[in-house]
Amino acid sequence: MSKRDFLTLLDCTPEELKHLIQRSAALKTLHTNGEVYQPFPGRTAAMILQLSSTRTRVAFEAGMNQLGGHAIFLGTSDTQLGRGESTQDMARVLSEMVDIVMIRTLDQDDLEDFAKAASIPVINAMTSRYHPCQLLADVQTFVELRGPIEGKKVAFVGDGYNMCASYINAARQWGFNLRIAAPPGYEPDAQLLASTNHAALVETPREAVENADLVVTDVWSSIGHEGQEEQRRATFASYQVNEDLLAYAKTDTLFTHCLPAHRGEEVNATVLDDPRSATWIAASNRLHSQKALVEFLLTCET
Ligand code: CP
Repeated sequence: MSKRDFLTLLDCTPEELKHLIQRSAALKTLHTNGEVYQPFPGRTAAMILQLSSTRTRVAFEAGMNQLGGHAIFLGTSDTQLGRGESTQDMARVLSEMVDIVMIRTLDQDDLEDFAKAASIPVINAMTSRYHPCQLLADVQTFVELRGPIEGKKVAFVGDGYNMCASYINAARQWGFNLRIAAPPGYEPDAQLLASTNHAALVETPREAVENADLVVTDVWSSIGHEGQEEQRRATFASYQVNEDLLAYAKTDTLFTHCLPAHRGEEVNATVLDDPRSATWIAASNRLHSQKALVEFLLTCET
């Protein structure tokens, strides 16, 4: 039996992604009702985090504990990766010791090299190219609050970086229509954009947001953009999501931000707490959707 990885949303079929969302909602109900569900006693997850994380780390660690297993945090300075051990060698060794690995690293190629060398499931916990775990929580949140996302209008306003790229893959997989407003020079990868007719670039944030069912943004300077903050603040100044911009969306629109947020930059001081903001629900859904993903990867037969 071969293992399954989750390196991008394209590693699952649309049907599997729908199953993950439904399963996450079911696990959320169990958790909310205080019911114990521990299918993985004695199973271990390794969390290789070469970049900072709050939500992703805590969701995996708490989630693995709640599922009856255990999670080990491996920061760069805690492992021999930080001293030059090859990704492939580490993948071979960890495959003999733990049951599943999640990795946050800048380079998607490093993640893919690790996954190729590992005989256990590998999860992308964010790279500079993609953040697929966040999309599971975001889509779950939309479905929870508004029903099916297929055919809906989604606006992404801001940097065409890893969150935008994952929204392009999500539009393709869930069948929603994505409009992206990004400053010139900060558009998403052209080849990725051309991979689906469910995503398109538009000229202005207003054009992206008009009649949108969901509005999404992310920070202007992500991990990997250190030293560019001042220049990016100037370039992205007209791309802030605030109540004036949301007024162009549908009256029952939702807004979400993957967090951490920089109030006064990509969002103003108040929009995260606006009644249309689903940001905090999406953040809490990271726990349930990552539990559903771990369960899927540890039990699916290929
Ligand atoms: N949204 C997200 O991935 O949060 P962290 O960077 O805190 O994990």
